[in-house]
Amino acid sequence: MNQIPQDVITEIRNSIDIVDVIDGYVKLNPRGKNFFGLCPFHDDNNASMSVAKDKQIYTCFSCGATGNVFKFIEDIENISFIEAVKRCADITNIKLDIKVNNSKINEKFKNLYDIYEDTTKLYHQILISENGKEAREYLKNRQINDDIINTFRIGLSLKDRLIITKSMSSKYAKSDIIKTGLVKEGDRGLYDSYCNRIMFPLDDINGNIVGFSGRIYNEEDNSKYINTNETDIFKKTETLYNYNRAKNSARRNGYVIVMEGFMDVIRAHTIGYDNCVATMGTAITEFHANLLKKMAKDIYLCFDGDKAGAKATYSCIEKLKTVGVIPKIIRLESDLDPDDFIRKFGKEEFDKKLNNPISVLEFQISYLKKDYDLNNMDDVAIYLRKCVELLNKVDDNILREMMISKICEDTNIKPDIIRAELRPLIKHEEDVSDAEIIKPVIIEPQPIQKGLNKYEKAEINLIYYMLNNKEIIYIYDRRISYMPSYKMRKLAREISGFYHKHGYINVADFMTYASSKKELMESLNVVLNQNLREEFDLNEILDYINVIKEYNINEQIKKIQKDIKNEKDIMKQISLIDKITELIKDREEL
Ligand code: UTP
Ligand code: MN
Repeated sequence: MNQIPQDVITEIRNSIDIVDVIDGYVKLNPRGKNFFGLCPFHDDNNASMSVAKDKQIYTCFSCGATGNVFKFIEDIENISFIEAVKRCADITNIKLDIKVNNSKINEKFKNLYDIYEDTTKLYHQILISENGKEAREYLKNRQINDDIINTFRIGLSLKDRLIITKSMSSKYAKSDIIKTGLVKEGDRGLYDSYCNRIMFPLDDINGNIVGFSGRIYNEEDNSKYINTNETDIFKKTETLYNYNRAKNSARRNGYVIVMEGFMDVIRAHTIGYDNCVATMGTAITEFHANLLKKMAKDIYLCFDGDKAGAKATYSCIEKLKTVGVIPKIIRLESDLDPDDFIRKFGKEEFDKKLNNPISVLEFQISYLKKDYDLNNMDDVAIYLRKCVELLNKVDDNILREMMISKICEDTNIKPDIIRAELRPLIKHEEDVSDAEIIKPVIIEPQPIQKGLNKYEKAEINLIYYMLNNKEIIYIYDRRISYMPSYKMRKLAREISGFYHKHGYINVADFMTYASSKKELMESLNVVLNQNLREEFDLNEILDYINVIKEYNINEQIKKIQKDIKNEKDIMKQISLIDKITELIKDREEL
């Protein structure tokens, strides 16, 4: 089924705790023996996903998603089983000598990806070499230490413009090298595009490097940053700097911060904000807006403190509105960008800013104000009209009133004059208070055994206990070995087979085995989604066994009755009837 031996897979699974892994993606809270969190596989408000530390599996009792650590990573990262195993192996430092194909790479462009990756390594080597001394000094002055250099894989291009050209030409076709934009063709042959710049690799949403931004550091040049040209795999309108690193942290924390520059993102990372992204110096696109919307429930805009930053904030709000997102706004003083702000005022002040975002309405009104001279009556009148327009778009009375008092302060107008201009609030019956939105309502998982007939209930329960206790497998082997439904019959056989082959049974490892068998996995999901109790008593098991035996007897009787109908020979008919009588007696003895 895969190239990795089962025992290695099991070793990897055993050396990793599913609770830690899932907790990296969704905040888990302990409750009883299990951990609960918002299920990332459906739009969940109820902490429907339970993660069992002892069984090392997760189950969502709302959407039915279930699996072990590998399945979780497969589904959340949208990668193959083998890749998921490899990731876990990497986390636990287990060496896996297999070649894992990156399923996130379009094979058609594999050479491009490889060239960017190789170049990243080369640039990075140069930066940390003797030749990179001056550049490292520059970075140090900007308080970018070696850790950050390594994390963001920062590098350096030298004045010698043949380094990348030579190195890549020995491995890749000229046409591919030129396509990457890292090498250009001039009259005297090929030469490196970048020269004497600090190189920041740019990732696509899957974390593959697809380009660079090069910054000047010791010489004046017209352009501060130069980005690689767009290619089939690099589109600025679809790129968010740091997306792949930020996505888990954003989901986990419930918000993502959007900044203007990638230096800002890097700085925020140094003070523990791993949930920041930036566009590549372009306005936010609808693609970006949708990507951000998927990242987290809340979106914070923290652009530069200058006028341009305010303008960018304004248009970003408009773009986000088109996809139904109302962001929260952070404004920084004194024209500072987040990088400057954090360096100047430190983490605490930045934390404060984040804890006190302003609403879109407040931002828009203060943004409007800048265009008007509030000592001029005509200006005040136009300004107030515009404010009323904005206030009319808001249905929250408290927010309206707060803004009205602000506007009145600035303009010396009586609140009632503004109120008189406002349309009445629309009452939403299904209005939920903020508190309800923020705090997930936790409902206890309920066994969903309704709608099952007694035979289904018996087989599902038995299988569930088989997955947890080898004794029940023995009981099954000896006393039944035939489940009523085809699917559960198959599943029970596989569980028994797994146990006899490996000498132990647990859900998590059985899942690894089942994961490549669609039908088996479906049946397993049915069983696990019942949310059964773990404790059982033997009488309960014996009851189930009797129910199943009863089923099997009934089936046999039905079959014999059919045979009797088709049987012409009277003597044979009589012997068949005897058989039925015996079966009925057996059934009564159950
Ligand atoms: P900024 O000029 O705000 O960059 O441009 P920054 O983050 O403050 O950079 P430092 O601190 O001076 O190093 C914001 C973004 O616009 C793009 C880059 O993506 C940058 O992060 N940009 C800027 C360019 O593409 N080219 C430029 O010449 C300048
Ligand atoms: Mn800056």
